[in-house]
Amino acid sequence: MNSAAPELPVDALDVLRKRRSAKWQTYPADVLPLTVAEMDFALAAPVADALREAVERSDTGYAMATPGLGRALAGFAARRWHWDIDPASVTAVTDVGVGVVELLRLLARPGDAVVISPPVYPPFFDWVPEAGARLLEVPLAHDAAGWRLDLAALEAAFATHPAAYVLCNPHNPVGRVHTPDELAALVRLARIYQVTLVSDEIHGPLVLPGATFTPLLTVPGAAEVAVSVLSASKAWNLAGLKCAAVVTAAPRLAAVAARLPPDTQWRIGHFGVLAAVAAFSEGGPWLDQLLATLDHRRARLADLLRQRLPMVTWHPPEATFLAWLDCAALGPDNQARERFLDRGRVALEPGLRFGAAGAAHARLNFATSTDILEQATARMAAAAA
Ligand SMILES: Cc1ncc(COP(=O)(O)O)c(C=O)c1O
Repeated sequence: MNSAAPELPVDALDVLRKRRSAKWQTYPADVLPLTVAEMDFALAAPVADALREAVERSDTGYAMATPGLGRALAGFAARRWHWDIDPASVTAVTDVGVGVVELLRLLARPGDAVVISPPVYPPFFDWVPEAGARLLEVPLAHDAAGWRLDLAALEAAFATHPAAYVLCNPHNPVGRVHTPDELAALVRLARIYQVTLVSDEIHGPLVLPGATFTPLLTVPGAAEVAVSVLSASKAWNLAGLKCAAVVTAAPRLAAVAARLPPDTQWRIGHFGVLAAVAAFSEGGPWLDQLLATLDHRRARLADLLRQRLPMVTWHPPEATFLAWLDCAALGPDNQARERFLDRGRVALEPGLRFGAAGAAHARLNFATSTDILEQATARMAAAAA
């Protein structure tokens, strides 16, 4: 990481407001949206070039993910994480949500339990029933040091023989990067109780300075019990283009991936594949700049919260561009978030969307300019007063 790399630029607010994506269209024009996990930075040049060139070629047909996506992902994983992926073990899927749901359909019989650990990315609560399975919640443990997997509670849950555990690695919204020891313990439990681990690693490239990402499949013994789902869509802001990857490393899970619906390959976005291949192959220097920029934003947000909203507490995230704010001093449930929106015209994600453990919390997206963070925290402080 080159810490001297210049920070990534962000367009002025009036230009951002012209975007047609969900983040910029959900709220009225006087609201600053720090909500859904889209970033405000300009696209990485290799990604923008790949998309522009495709438009110039009128290259807008169906996606052809093989062999390019697997090769590009394997190259990135080897360079970045020393993770050796066989490109042939990569199956392209529409997005991470589709990948997890289709895997759960294959892993769980109707009514089987699937474990998740709230507070967690809200669609996890939908994906499990969508796959015909039953949710079993094992909340994260929380103490003064932050949030982490509750391995004792996970063991008790695994002993009831759920079909799978959907791991969020790193964990949205708390920004926790699970340690190699924690993941090794999780793998040990999965092997003892025969629970398949589905590891959502969409935030893997977004591990910030100070922490190190451990892809689950690099943990000894994980290959027989784990499958990983990754995407370039968070780190390079490509969520609307629709391309993700399911990765396996042993025959049992490869056989599961081979049973993904046969039409899966036709449901992927062609631009998603082109952009993901460009991002994984040539987007490393831009990603380094992004991580340096987010590191600065994280520090700036810490200063702003300390100065302007001292009643709000948080554990700065080790990964992601998301801040999980404890607003209990401003009221229960989603009251603080409603106050920030109604009085301050700043939209954050309501904590209760992330499960009961999210009560009195709100999630703030800091992948934006310093100027917008300054404005947002000033308005939040006025709303809290
Ligand atoms: C943990 C996690 N998984 C999945 C997604 C969504 O991924 P996709 O759009 O590829 O389904 C997000 C989006 O923010 C996320 O945070």
